[in-house]
Amino acid sequence: MKVGVLTGGGDCPGLNQSIRGIILRSLDYGIEVIGLKNGWAGLIKGLTMSLDLKTADEIISKGGTILGSSRTNPFKKEDEMVPKCMETFKNIGLDALIAIGGDDTLGVANKFYKKGLKIVGVPKTMDNDLSATDYTFGFDSAATIAIDAVERLRDTGKSHHRIMVLEVMGRHAGWVALFTGIAGGADWILIPEQKVNFDEMCTHLKKVWERKGYGIVVVSEGIEFSEEDEEDEEEQEKDAFGHIILKKRAVAVTLEKEIEKRTGIEARSSVIGHMQRGGSPTLFDRILSLRVGVKAVDLIKEGKFGMMACLKGNRIEAVPLEQAVAKLKTVDEEWWSFAKVFLK
Ligand code: F6P
Repeated sequence: MKVGVLTGGGDCPGLNQSIRGIILRSLDYGIEVIGLKNGWAGLIKGLTMSLDLKTADEIISKGGTILGSSRTNPFKKEDEMVPKCMETFKNIGLDALIAIGGDDTLGVANKFYKKGLKIVGVPKTMDNDLSATDYTFGFDSAATIAIDAVERLRDTGKSHHRIMVLEVMGRHAGWVALFTGIAGGADWILIPEQKVNFDEMCTHLKKVWERKGYGIVVVSEGIEFSEEDEEDEEEQEKDAFGHIILKKRAVAVTLEKEIEKRTGIEARSSVIGHMQRGGSPTLFDRILSLRVGVKAVDLIKEGKFGMMACLKGNRIEAVPLEQAVAKLKTVDEEWWSFAKVFLK
């Protein structure tokens, strides 16, 4: 058997470890593994690389993805690109394909599955916004890096008696901001799932500042300041999957200015951005990425296509891709109430 593997969408810690899991499990079954470079672009253009035991040895702790990634969407130009992908699949002699990605990449995988390709999905994303899996690898590492940033901001904020604002990634789901804020001891957390209330936030920050002499705010890049913001969406620059390029919105700077204006306290903002996506994965992400990689090969061996490996409690299971990409997993009220316990 010959199995292809690709990584699509934003990279995150754990991708190489997942590839390692795929290579090593494939060896158990005598399956040959071929890497497709740069996400779906590799399938369109037929860009391949061989993956063997030596490769697996070299990527034990490496960040990023040795396969490269892209946000290429073959269904954007369906008539032209999709046949090309089908052709490459056949020409390389693939029996099956493993797509490692978030909702966009797995959404494409699901469409190809419906067109008859034998595909299995592996969930990844630092945003942790994929439903049908309890956690995605990349998230734990990204939040761990962001917590370190909070600690550093606390030191300098404390010295200068400032309110420090940290903007983290996460697109339309506030998981990274929420976990970073809770675990890092932030004084206020802003997530896309909750409306921004400047009055409430600034009254609270003033109270905190009077008590501690500094304050920490963690904000998710995807928050909306007003309903006009949402209406403006049409005009903003988007990627191949139609997502707004959020870093251009600079929410941290807006917050910094608003906090200064409303509280009279000096504020500073930082954006951690892509630093959250590089480096070696945490223990949790290493184990999770290996487990879902191994599961994907098992699914292929069992002929269970159109499925995605997932984490349910502490077990690795499988769910239909259709179900996995049906809706985003956002922060629910239960988590939000839990976070509010610590905003004192
Ligand atoms: O989807 C993962 C993610 O890191 C988001 O949190 C972020 O908005 C986006 O990717 C950034 O994308 P890019 O790497 O294309 O700037």
